[in-house]
Amino acid sequence: MSTAPTLTATGAPVPEAVPTPAALFDLSGSVVLVTGASGGLGARFASVAAAAGARVVLAARRAERLAEVAADCPGALAVPCDVTSAADRARLVDTAVEHFGRLDVLVNNAGAARVVPATEEDPADFASLVDLNLSSVFALTQLAGARMLAQGSGSVVNIASVYGMVASGSLPQAAYAASKGGLVNLTRELAAQWARRGVRVNAICPGWFHSEMTTGMLDDESGSTWVNRRTPMGRSGSAGELDGALLFLASAASSYVTGAVLPVDGGYLAI
Ligand SMILES: NC(=O)c1ccc[n+]([C@@H]2O[C@H](COP(=O)([O-])OP(=O)(O)OC[C@H]3O[C@@H](n4cnc5c(N)ncnc54)[C@H](OP(=O)(O)O)[C@@H]3O)[C@@H](O)[C@H]2O)c1
Repeated sequence: MSTAPTLTATGAPVPEAVPTPAALFDLSGSVVLVTGASGGLGARFASVAAAAGARVVLAARRAERLAEVAADCPGALAVPCDVTSAADRARLVDTAVEHFGRLDVLVNNAGAARVVPATEEDPADFASLVDLNLSSVFALTQLAGARMLAQGSGSVVNIASVYGMVASGSLPQAAYAASKGGLVNLTRELAAQWARRGVRVNAICPGWFHSEMTTGMLDDESGSTWVNRRTPMGRSGSAGELDGALLFLASAASSYVTGAVLPVDGGYLAI
C-alpha cells in the first residue's frame, strides 16, 4: 500500500526529516536472536546488535562459550541448543519470547562446512550438512517467522556465503555449496511470501573471514595465498567488516529492502 507524499506549496514532496546515522541503525527495544553465537561471526553479530541497543538471544551448543559471549552483551539471554533438533528449536523460540515478550530479528548464522571431493562425499554426510545449513534454517525461520508475522514486523538475516552464488572449484564442497545456494533462494522465496505482512528476509554472502571454520585455510600460507589471489581486494575480511551489513539488514535502515542478497566479500563475486 502506498501513501501519497505531503506536498509543499510549490508541489514538491515535503522531505522526510533527516535521521542521524545512530538513529538510522538503532536497535533499541529490538530483540535479536543469533544462532551460532558461541564464536566466530555469530559472536560478533551478537556483540554488534547489543552495542546498537538490542536485547540479544544467543544460541549454540557449547554452553560455556555462549556464557562468555553473553557476558559481553548487556541483558543477553543464552540458550544452549542444537538447531538441528526440532525440540531445541521450539524451546529456543519459546524461551526467547517468554523472556523478552517479542522477537524482532533472527540471524540465521549457525553453520558448518566440509571440504571433500564429490566422488568421495558420503550422501549421509551431504544430507546432514544440508540439514544444518538449510533445512534447520527453514524450520527455525518458520517458528520465528510465525511470531514476527503475528506481530506484523520482523527481519530475518540469513548468513549464506559467496559459495551460495558461485562454485568454489578447486576447494571441493558440494554439500556446502548446495546448502548455501538453497539458502540464497530460500531467502528470496520467504521474502516474497511475507513482504506484505511486515516481515523482511535478506541474506549476507560473506567472502573469507577468520573464524574456527576457516582457520585451517587462512592460517595456512598456501590457503591464504589461494584466498588472496581470488579476492579482488587481495585479502580476507577483517573482524568488523560484516558489522555494517548486519546492522543495515537488522534495522529500519533497510525498511524497504527484502529478498536482497548482499555480498561482503572484497569483490569476490564481482569477477
Ligand atoms: N568465516 C567465513 O569466512 C564465512 C564465509 C562465508 C559464510 N560463512 C558462514 O557464516 C556462518 C558462521 O561461520 P563462522 O565462520 O563463524 O564459523 P564457526 O566459527 O565454525 O562458527 C559456527 C557457529 O555455529 C554453531 N553451530 C554449529 N552447529 C550448530 C548446531 N547444530 N546448533 C547450534 N549451533 C551450531 C557453532 O557453535 P557450537 O559449536 O557451540 O554449536 C558456532 O557458534 C556459517 O553459516 C558460515 O557458513 C562464514
